[in-house]
Amino acid sequence: MYWEEQMLQMLARILRPVTRRRRLFGVAVIAAAGIAPAAAAESVALSVDASKAGAKIDRQIFGQFAEHLGTGIYEGVWVGPDSPIPNTRGIRSDVVTALKALDVPNVRWPGGCFADEYHWRKGVGPDRAVTLNPNWGGVTEPNTFGTHEFLDFVEQIGAEAFISVNVGSGTPQEAAEWLEYLTAAQPTTLAKERAANGHPAPYKIAYLGIGNESWDCGGNMTPEHYLSHLKAYSRFVRNFNPAQQQDPHRMLRIAVGPGGDGPRWTEWTDTVMKAWRGRSWSWDMEGLSLHNYTVVKWPPSYKSVGFGERDYAEILKSTLEMDGIIARHSAIMDKYDPEKKIALVVDEWGAWYAPLPGSKEGFLAQQNSLRDGVLAALNLNIFARHADRVRMANIAQMVNVLQTMILTDDEKMILTPTYHVFRMYVPFQDATFVPVSLDAGTYTHGSVTLPRVDAIAARDKAGKLWLAVANLDPNRPVTIEASLAGVTARSAAGETLTAPRVDSVNTFETPNVVAPKPIAAKVLGGAVALTLEPKSVTVVSVEP
Ligand code: AHR
Repeated sequence: MYWEEQMLQMLARILRPVTRRRRLFGVAVIAAAGIAPAAAAESVALSVDASKAGAKIDRQIFGQFAEHLGTGIYEGVWVGPDSPIPNTRGIRSDVVTALKALDVPNVRWPGGCFADEYHWRKGVGPDRAVTLNPNWGGVTEPNTFGTHEFLDFVEQIGAEAFISVNVGSGTPQEAAEWLEYLTAAQPTTLAKERAANGHPAPYKIAYLGIGNESWDCGGNMTPEHYLSHLKAYSRFVRNFNPAQQQDPHRMLRIAVGPGGDGPRWTEWTDTVMKAWRGRSWSWDMEGLSLHNYTVVKWPPSYKSVGFGERDYAEILKSTLEMDGIIARHSAIMDKYDPEKKIALVVDEWGAWYAPLPGSKEGFLAQQNSLRDGVLAALNLNIFARHADRVRMANIAQMVNVLQTMILTDDEKMILTPTYHVFRMYVPFQDATFVPVSLDAGTYTHGSVTLPRVDAIAARDKAGKLWLAVANLDPNRPVTIEASLAGVTARSAAGETLTAPRVDSVNTFETPNVVAPKPIAAKVLGGAVALTLEPKSVTVVSVEP
């Protein structure tokens, strides 16, 4: 203790000459761990007027994506009922417990590119066909995790089902029969088959993805070609569940949208939205998908571990482009849909790095570092700022693939920095966005200059104010001086996520290198002062 106090005093002396540091609170609060000796806790002033409510931050933006890819399903979710790994009806219990803590709102399945080659009949009933997964390593697909297993899984974690139907190599009839099998309450042959396979009651299917990347792995279509499919699927692939015939329970149909920025993608959005505006009674959609990965360049070559500050800065710069991409597609959507009936659904996002050395080709295995925690927070903040249009999103992917929540190795399981950020952000689910104004300052490394601080605020259903603040600067702490209007503040506390290095990761041997720890703010005269460690994500609630 004596040593820690000495250390704090020493740090306070080092930090004393810093500009603006005392403006609101006198001596800044200093978090000791991980601060380089030369670091300086300069202040960033931020103001929040909690009486100014924005859009609802739809909890569906915290959605997950689970594709039949690598060990994302087999091993990551499904171990089979006879496995020595604890499971419920074949679904691993540790993963279910971890995901329940995230309040996962929806899971997108079975793909991805896999969806456009998936034939649902091979994954129901006692005899499952063994097929191939040509997109992802050419491995065999046992189909032991099929329709019933997926719906059991989402029920176990308390999430809604988001099913992507096969447009590329399937037919409207095949998809229509799948939905009848899933949702019919009357004793049709397909409903009776569902009952014989163990589920007499109709399933609830909240979201229907009509194809996946139909401009590429989903069939290399032009927007016009895709539109002719969209119209047929939208008309014929019906949800018969009696409990889903009225708003707000109706199944929402999500059309394939753009795959990034630039003329090719703005043309796609324009063509689909223009057709939607001129639609007849016989077809409709409720969402337009957007896929945008943080990759910098193809093929993905940035390392997911063992990198330095240059890669950290370049990846964060790239991820911040999400904001402009959403803004540009939203502007096109506004032209045809000023009432914002159609949601922009970012149903694939996240960091895509070089595969881990030694991992199987096509398995998209990568580590998940502190950088990914910061990256996740930045994207969630962007979605929240666009909450009026972005009402759903799905990070790619949930377990063992790309920017994952969870890594497994046989019976072992660890939580990633991205998982921790999703858990810290749970209070923002369905909270009301509150505008924040701040002078974010800058962080520069080489030719890359980024905002030093990024922040959002929201009020939850009980009226409590929440702040999420990221300090992007990996070298300097920052003191946030937040003036609050429209809310009484007596105390503020929460959690912060940081680690010694930008590429710090959790491993099966050291699973808690990157883990949240408590943080408390000082509150004086209704304002909050909070010192954020370098390269950190912090979420605090303000107690009245
Ligand atoms: O998430 C991996 C792949 O990325 C998906 O299958 C595809 O839709 C996208 O290109």
